[in-house]
Amino acid sequence: MNRMIEEFREDRKRLNEKILSKNHRAAIMKRVYAMDTFTYSDRQEGLSAKEKEMLGLVSSMVLRCDDCIKYHLEKCFELGVADDEMMDIFGVANVVGGTIVIPHTRRAIEYWEILLSERPKPSPFDKEQKELLYQSIMVSLDAILQGITNPISKMATINEVLKSNINYYYWVGFYLAEEKHLSVGPYQGTHGCLFIEYGKGVCGRAAQQKQSILVDDISALNAEQGSQKGDLHISCDPRCKSEIVIPVIDQEGKLIAIFDVDSLHLNAFDAVDQLFLEKIMKLYF
Ligand code: SME
Repeated sequence: MNRMIEEFREDRKRLNEKILSKNHRAAIMKRVYAMDTFTYSDRQEGLSAKEKEMLGLVSSMVLRCDDCIKYHLEKCFELGVADDEMMDIFGVANVVGGTIVIPHTRRAIEYWEILLSERPKPSPFDKEQKELLYQSIMVSLDAILQGITNPISKMATINEVLKSNINYYYWVGFYLAEEKHLSVGPYQGTHGCLFIEYGKGVCGRAAQQKQSILVDDISALNAEQGSQKGDLHISCDPRCKSEIVIPVIDQEGKLIAIFDVDSLHLNAFDAVDQLFLEKIMKLYF
């Protein structure tokens, strides 16, 4: 995912948690947040969520709040606002707010275009077949891992079952969460790097954010990171073209590992892979 989007989402999440974790007056802020969610939510009556987000965006532009603009751009993108509709929104905001809105519109169009470029491309592998495959893999894992408690045994077995059944998997394995870095754990494939710093590469970033990351095109990510090698992606095998990384979190919410799959195909992984892999990790760790 683009760094600008990632940083914006990460900061927003981290600082919202900070606001909502304070006991003193947290109740007021929780109500403010709840009212905001209620205001923009889709209900039977009145405007649709999409229309309300468009209104929210115009108001944020007129009031010149860049963070609010980014937030509503994200929601508009999520709710399917088209590019020409967005240009109309920019037009209304500039007419109402005046030319002082132009600098905000520049930043808005940049962020909007980044969002558009992130729109998921369809995976070359059929969604329904993927679903059937993962469902049957889950049945096999259920039988094979009955009563197994050793996490390393579970990791090694999950790798084997997934890799031998899914033909677009190339490198599959776990990185174990240690105090200072991630260390390579059980894997199948070519030589994997031994350590990964938290916050670096796809695995280190997923570990830091405790969120799954899908990379449709590794070469685009390498081009984006330029000379800052390893910041966004760490290359272990230059043949890999796409990647999915899932954080493995235990019952207490502690990160114990990172599960990583690389493919030789562009765009190999999509929401179906993410859904099932997150399910598998939750079920066994
Ligand atoms: N590409 C990963 C490093 C691990 S290898 O893919 C096995 C990353 O950027 O974190």
